[in-house]
Amino acid sequence: MNSITRLLLTGAGIIGITTLLTGCGASGSPDLYKDSSQPVEKRVESLLSQMTLDEKLGQLNQRSMWDGDNALSYFSGEIASGNIGSLLNVPSPFHADSMQRVAMEQSRLGIPLLISRDVIHGYKTIFPIPLGQAATFDTLIVEKGARIAAVEASSDGIRWTFAPMIDIARDPRWGRIAEGCGEDVYLTRLMSRAMVKGFQGDDLTDPTSMAACAKHFVGYGASESGRDYNSTFIPERLLRNIYLPPFEEACKAGCLTYMSSFNDNDGVPASGNKFVLTDILRGEWGFNGFVVSDWASVGEMVNHGFCADNKEAAMKGLNAGVDMEMESCTYITHMKELLDEGKVKIDDIDKSVANILRVKFMLGLFEKPYIATPQEVKYSEPHLAAAKEAAMKSAILLKNDNDVLPLSQGVKRILLTGPLADARHDQMGTWVFDGEKDKTVTLLDALRKEYGNDITVIYEPALGYSRDKNEAGIARAVNAARGVDAVIAVVGEESILSGEAHCLADLDLVGAQGKLIEALSRTGKPLVTVVMAGRPLTIKKQIDESDAVLYSFHPGTMGGPALADLIFGKESPSGKTPVTFPARVGQIPIYYSKNAGSRPAHGTETLINDIPQEGGQTSLGNTSYWLDAGFGPLFPFGYGLSYGKFDYADIALDKTSYSKDDCITATAKLTNSGKHKATEVAQLYIRDHAGSVTRPVKELKGFERVTLSPGESTTVTFRLPVSELAFYGADMKKNVEAGDFTLWIGGDSDCGLSTPFSVTD
Ligand code: BGC
Repeated sequence: MNSITRLLLTGAGIIGITTLLTGCGASGSPDLYKDSSQPVEKRVESLLSQMTLDEKLGQLNQRSMWDGDNALSYFSGEIASGNIGSLLNVPSPFHADSMQRVAMEQSRLGIPLLISRDVIHGYKTIFPIPLGQAATFDTLIVEKGARIAAVEASSDGIRWTFAPMIDIARDPRWGRIAEGCGEDVYLTRLMSRAMVKGFQGDDLTDPTSMAACAKHFVGYGASESGRDYNSTFIPERLLRNIYLPPFEEACKAGCLTYMSSFNDNDGVPASGNKFVLTDILRGEWGFNGFVVSDWASVGEMVNHGFCADNKEAAMKGLNAGVDMEMESCTYITHMKELLDEGKVKIDDIDKSVANILRVKFMLGLFEKPYIATPQEVKYSEPHLAAAKEAAMKSAILLKNDNDVLPLSQGVKRILLTGPLADARHDQMGTWVFDGEKDKTVTLLDALRKEYGNDITVIYEPALGYSRDKNEAGIARAVNAARGVDAVIAVVGEESILSGEAHCLADLDLVGAQGKLIEALSRTGKPLVTVVMAGRPLTIKKQIDESDAVLYSFHPGTMGGPALADLIFGKESPSGKTPVTFPARVGQIPIYYSKNAGSRPAHGTETLINDIPQEGGQTSLGNTSYWLDAGFGPLFPFGYGLSYGKFDYADIALDKTSYSKDDCITATAKLTNSGKHKATEVAQLYIRDHAGSVTRPVKELKGFERVTLSPGESTTVTFRLPVSELAFYGADMKKNVEAGDFTLWIGGDSDCGLSTPFSVTD
C-alpha cells in the first residue's frame, strides 16, 4: 500500500477511497441512500461508498448514555462527529430525540442512531419474567407481550431491544435462568419465534416495531456450576442439537440482530468465535442483520486470556464476526492501526458497517428517526389486561390436596402473609429498568379491591423481605391465623436474587421463610403457599407442609389480580413447569431430556437409610441414582395441575411406519372429568430408540392448550412432520435416522400414553 492510499484509508475526516475515485459514490447520486423507494441494498451501497473510515468505525461503536450535566454535550459532540452508531440506556425520550436530532442534522451524512435498551419482559407494563412466560406454553400471549413491550418502548424512542434471551438453561443456580424459556429446545424455539414476531411486528418500518436481538449467542446457559460469566464446555453436537436451534428459529423468524455472549466455549470466547458467528450464523443460516457484542465482551477477551490486549481483542472480534461493539471501545480505538498493519481487512469493516446500515434502513429510521407514536400507550387498559392474562396463564399449580383451591364460598376470613404478598418492586422480577413499582398491583391490593366486599383479609407480612431472618413477626402471623378460614402465604425470592450475576449455591427459601411456612402449617388451617421467584427453588419441605402451592415466578405488574382470580377460582391455573424442579441442589443438572446412560434407574432403588450394614458392593443393583436423593426431581418438566381433572385415552397414530417426508398425525382423547372448567397443556414427546449417536430418553415435539368444561371430551390432534425428528448424528449432519420410536401424549414429561412407530429410509 502506498503512503497516499494509506493516508486516505486511515486519515480522520478524510473521505473514503471509493468516493475519491468516483466523485460522488459508486452508486449514483450521493443522495440515493435517502430515497426510500430504492432497494435497501442499493441504499446501503450508496451510503457506504461515501463514508470515511472514521464514520465507518463510528457505526460499529455502541455506547451507553448516562444522565447528568455533561452527558448531552459529550454525546452530542461524539454523535455529530459520527463516532457513535448506537446508544443504549438513553435516560429519557427527550434524550432519545435530542441525540437523534444531532445524528440526523449535525453528522455529515445524517445516519440515524439505533437506540436500544433491555426491554426484556415489558417496558412499563411488566409481564411475567420470561421463564414465567414460557410456563404459559402459549405462544400467542407471549407474542402479544412482546408486541406490547415494543409499542410502549418505541413510544420513548427505543427501536431495538436486547431480547429474546433464548439460552437453554438446565441449572437453576444460574440467576439468568429467569430471563430465558427454561430447559427445553422445542419450547424455547417456539417462544423465540413468538417473541421475535412480537417485538418486530408485521412491518419493520412501522414506528412501533423494535429490532429483536437473539441472545446470548451461544451456550451461555451452560455456565459451569451455574456461576455467571463462567466457561462452558459444549461439544459441537450438543451445541447443534440443543443450544443452537432456538437461535436458528429466531433467524428464520427474521430476527435482525444477535448478541455474542460472555462465555468461552471450549476455550473460545463467544465474541471471538468465527465458527459460530460467521460460519454457522451467516454461512449456514444466511443471516444478514448484525451481531452486537455483549457489554464489553470484546474487551473482556483479554480477561479470558484469549487476547493479550484490547488491540488484539478488536482484531479477533471483528474477524470473528462481531459487527458492533458494545461499550468496550476497542474497535474505535484500535481498528485503524490494525488496518494499517494488515491485521483486519477494509472489506470486513465494510461488511460490518453494511450489516448495521441494512438494519437501520430496514427499520425505516432514515425516514422516521424521531418518536412517532403517542406516549400515552403505556399502562393502557389492554396492556394491563394482557399482562394479567399472561400472569394468570404462567402460574403453575404444583399441589392441591383435597381441592383446597379454589377457595370455596365458605371462606370468609383469610390471613394473607409472607414477604412477597405486597412487594411492589420484587413482584416485577429481574431486568426491569422502566416498570414503576407504584403501578404494580399486588395480591394484597387485589384481594382487598376485588374480593374485599365478600371476605375479610387480615394482612400480617411476618417478614419484611425474603431474606429477613427476624422471626418476631412469625408469631404474629400464627396468632392471626387462629381466627381465619384459610391462610395464603406468599414467599419466594426478591427480584434482586435472580438475573445477571445473581447466582446461588443453595436454592432453599431464604431468610426465615421456611420457618414461617412450618409455623403456619402447624396451625392446622388450610395453607395455600404462593411462590414468587426467578427460578425453581428446592421447596420440597414447603410442598409437604402446604395444602396447595401455586408457583408464579415473578408475575409482573398484574400478578396480584391474576393470582387472586386463580385463588378464588375465576380461572383455573394452567401453567406447566418450563424447567425441571430439582428436589435438591446436588441433583443439578437434572432435566428430562437426558440420555439414557448405561444403567438407567428404575425407581425401586434402595435409598441411603435402607441400605443394609456391610452390604455387598453390588447389592444395590448398580443403577444411575443418588443414594440420598433417589433419581427423580421434585417436579418434572411440563408438570402442572388445574382445577379440572384431565384423563388421556385412546392414543392413536395414522400409521405405524413413516417415510422421511411424511407427517405424523397423532391423536388422543382428552376428558375433563373434574368439577371445574379448566385448561390443560397436552404435550407430545418422542423417543428415538437407537441412533448413530445416543438420543435423549424423551423430547418434546408438540403442545396444545385445550380448555374443557366439566365432563367434556375432545380429540387432541398433533401433526408432527417426520423432519422434526432430525438431529446431528455421528457424521455431524442433520438427518432423520430410520428406526424405532415411541410417541407419548400426556400432561407432563413423566407420564402419558405411549405408542410405537417406525421411520423407514
Ligand atoms: C447483559 C446483556 C444485556 C447487556 C446490556 C449485559 O450485561 O449480559 O444481556 O443486554 O448487558 O445491558
